[in-house]
Amino acid sequence: MSTADRIAALRSEGEAAVSSATGTAELEEVRVRFLGRKAELPNLLRDVGKLPPDERGPVGKGANEARKAIEAAVEARRAELEAAELEARLAADVVDVTLPGSPAVPAGHHHVITAVRREIEDVFLGLGFRVAEGPEADLVYYNFDALNFLSNHPTRLEADTFYLADDIVLRTHTSPMQVRAMELQPPPIYIIVPGRTYRRDNDATHTPQFHQVEGLAVDEDVTLGDLQGTLLSFARAIFGDERDVRLRPHFFPFTEPSVEVDVSCFNCTHGFLRDGGRCPLCKGTGWIEILGAGMVDPNVFGYVREHGYDPDRIQGFAFGMGIERIAFLKHRVPDLRMFYENDLRMLEQFG
Ligand code: PHE
Repeated sequence: MSTADRIAALRSEGEAAVSSATGTAELEEVRVRFLGRKAELPNLLRDVGKLPPDERGPVGKGANEARKAIEAAVEARRAELEAAELEARLAADVVDVTLPGSPAVPAGHHHVITAVRREIEDVFLGLGFRVAEGPEADLVYYNFDALNFLSNHPTRLEADTFYLADDIVLRTHTSPMQVRAMELQPPPIYIIVPGRTYRRDNDATHTPQFHQVEGLAVDEDVTLGDLQGTLLSFARAIFGDERDVRLRPHFFPFTEPSVEVDVSCFNCTHGFLRDGGRCPLCKGTGWIEILGAGMVDPNVFGYVREHGYDPDRIQGFAFGMGIERIAFLKHRVPDLRMFYENDLRMLEQFG
């Protein structure tokens, strides 16, 4: 075959391959096959100088034209293919706004203990209290000593309390924040302290880790009547407007006098169910214990006297309640441990 024929053949082969390319990637392969550095046509052009002089002109011209023709065909085909590919992408990307959206990820909700804690906080914020928090691992000094616990008080024993060191415990109640808060600011002080607490207990009505909310109000002329009124507002906000509270004498080392506070039963009338049976919630008494409280013992003020707490000039009341207990009464959960088993069938009932 003469060189001129070969060039003509390459040109028509190249043009045919270009026009049958079905995508830009395939087109690029065709371009490399016919016009790339190792392809036949460019090699012919490169070697034109080695030909006999009378062939150089015609071969060079023919090969150059063939190359230009294939290049032009490639560019034209590329434009066509790119347009078609863009069209296809646009068609595939069309959003059908009538389709249902992907379902939103459910937002979830607070754990029932968190929800009840926040509900309690809301009530006391409304009564003018601030929310403060304290350490869960605390000094024996704050957990017991400065709260006027005698050195031989039974709850100090390891049987009841988790010790981290001789002088450090996992707090057994939120009351250590009473003295800590008073060290931080002079009276008047109106705070509540929600938080985790720990005791060596584990049964249907006790878990080793639980939550309390402490309350502390110290000012001039604070009385037991203020305590009762505050707790009545609280009880009605949480358990319903018809509730009453009653105070029964009790003992805590850090309050004097001390009381246990009951709320009137919201499940029965004076202890009796509609059918005349005895109410299981209040055990027929008509009253349900909800918390411990009292007037701050002057001995406790003795530990913070230099911070402005002169027991001859100021008084205070304090109270402490278990959040699990409030949640359990409010929602009638049969076993406190269910709060911590993370069974969604249980938790989802409190959305
Ligand atoms: N800290 C007490 C308890 O855990 C409750 C309490 C708090 C009592 C404040 C009186 C005053 O039982």
